[in-house]
Amino acid sequence: MTQEKLTVRSIQEMKDRGEIITMLTAYDYPIAKQINDAGIEMILVGDSAAMVVHGHPNTLTATMEMMILHCAAVARACTRTMVIADMPFGSFQYSVEETMRNAARFVTEAKVDGVKFEAAPNHIEKTRAIVQMGIPVVGHVGLHPQSVGVLGGLTVQGKSIETARKVVTEALALEEAGAFAIIFEAVPAKLAAYVTKKLRVPTISIGGGPGCSGQLLVTYDVLGMFETFTPKFAKKYINLNQLIRQAILQYRDEVKSRKFPDEEHSYGMSEEVMEAIEKEFGKAE
Ligand code: KIV
Repeated sequence: MTQEKLTVRSIQEMKDRGEIITMLTAYDYPIAKQINDAGIEMILVGDSAAMVVHGHPNTLTATMEMMILHCAAVARACTRTMVIADMPFGSFQYSVEETMRNAARFVTEAKVDGVKFEAAPNHIEKTRAIVQMGIPVVGHVGLHPQSVGVLGGLTVQGKSIETARKVVTEALALEEAGAFAIIFEAVPAKLAAYVTKKLRVPTISIGGGPGCSGQLLVTYDVLGMFETFTPKFAKKYINLNQLIRQAILQYRDEVKSRKFPDEEHSYGMSEEVMEAIEKEFGKAE
């Protein structure tokens, strides 16, 4: 496994070789370092941070400041893994120029390798403009969690002819505009596999089934650290919440019963210094 930083070209070469691409979300340095060291090719610093880290009910409250802070921490850990910043709601909806400025902030302030944003008015034009600036863009089709209000829930997309057509046309247009990879969120596996064959660039599935060029999950789902809502496609590989709870309860019990801190976890001091202190300040009761 090469230790060099992965690039748009290495990700495309993986698709061309038929090698599956792995991607996870991350929001902080320690988890990003684990993901980098495990050889995962891409990290999405998702606006899911608003839900899984900040406790909001949806992703709409993520801000540029919040996302830049998370992205910078993740980017510092990633010597090999490509880091993609998820542009938060309100940072790319208004104009091409504002979208370009905000995309540039992610690169200059947080040092990420690329950006992703959901559909918005003129999002194909915005994709083209950002790629022309020199910033790699990941597209995102299917379920757009930032549109939860108009969708009426975080539900599968592309089951009807109209919504399936939307997935196909958006993906083709994103490739044409220069997106180097496209995320398929919560779409039927057959549809995602069909578009994967139509596209030259890799497709990354999060609820798009096994026919995509790569797979993505929210790391807090994988680790069992987010219990509020579990989508059908999320797989829990460990129940870290349970382990964390056990450790915190044990700490509480040990402190309450005065078992902790013990000698091993306390600093020693010479008798001579203690005697000098008692002589100067008097004995403690
Ligand atoms: O914010 C996020 O984690 C995402 C993925 C679900 C695609 O956008």
